[in-house]
Amino acid sequence: MSDIGLFKKRAAEAAVQTLQPGMVVGLGTGSTARHAIERIARLISDKVLCNIVCVPSSAATEKLARALEIPLTDLEKNPDIDINIDGADEVDPDFNLIKGGGGALLREKILAQTSKRNIIIVDETKLSPKLGTRFFLPVEVLEFAWRPEQQYLRGLGADVQLRKTKLGAPFKTDSGNVVLDANFGPMGNPGELAARLDSRAGVMGHGLFLGLVAEIFVGGESGVRRLVRGQDKAC
Ligand code: 5RP
Repeated sequence: MSDIGLFKKRAAEAAVQTLQPGMVVGLGTGSTARHAIERIARLISDKVLCNIVCVPSSAATEKLARALEIPLTDLEKNPDIDINIDGADEVDPDFNLIKGGGGALLREKILAQTSKRNIIIVDETKLSPKLGTRFFLPVEVLEFAWRPEQQYLRGLGADVQLRKTKLGAPFKTDSGNVVLDANFGPMGNPGELAARLDSRAGVMGHGLFLGLVAEIFVGGESGVRRLVRGQDKAC
C-alpha cells in the first residue's frame, strides 16, 4: 500500500472507533470510505459493533457492504442517520469541502444533510488553502440540460468538461445524470457559487459541501489528527 493509501486507512479506522452499537450509520463512497466500510465489517463480524444498520451513498458502496455482510437500511426506514463517514476531494481550513470525484455527490450530500454528525476522513494531501486549488468542482446535471449548463458554468469563468468513462461514453451517476467537471481555480466565494448553482433547474447537485462537517480525521506522516470545527483549522 502507498503512503497515501496508508494515511487514508489510518484516518478511516480512527473514525470508525467513534461508532457505537445500535447506531444508524451513513457509508460514503471512494477509496477512503472503503477502508472505513471494511473496518466496520470486521467489527461487526467480531461482534464488537452490534445492531448497527448502514445507509450506503452509492450503488458501489451498497455492493461492497452487501459483499461484506453489513446490515443495510435506507432513508425511508431510517431517515435520521447518527453518524455519516465519508471521504472528500478537497478540504479548506474552515471545513468546507469539494466532493464528487467518484460521482456519488448527490446521494452523499443527502446523507450529509440528514446526519446528526458528519465525519470526514482524508489523507493530508486533501487539505487546501482554498477550494478549487487542487480539484475541479463536479456538477451533476440532467443529461437533457448538459450543454446549457456547461455554457452557464463557462460564463461563470470555469473550464468545463463533460465527465467520460474510460471507453469515452458520458459517465452516468447512480441517478442517471451526467457530471460536468468545472475547473474554477481557487474560489474566492464558494458560498456565492453554491447559491448560483442551487438556483439552476438543470443542476441536480454539486460538490460544494459547505458548513456540513464538524469533524475531520486527517491521516498523515505523523499519524491521525482529529480536527473539530470551532476548535481547529483544517490545515
Ligand atoms: C465520491 C467522493 C469521494 O469521497 C471523494 O472522491 C474522495 O475519494 P477517495 O477517498 O477515493 O480519495 O466524493 O463521490
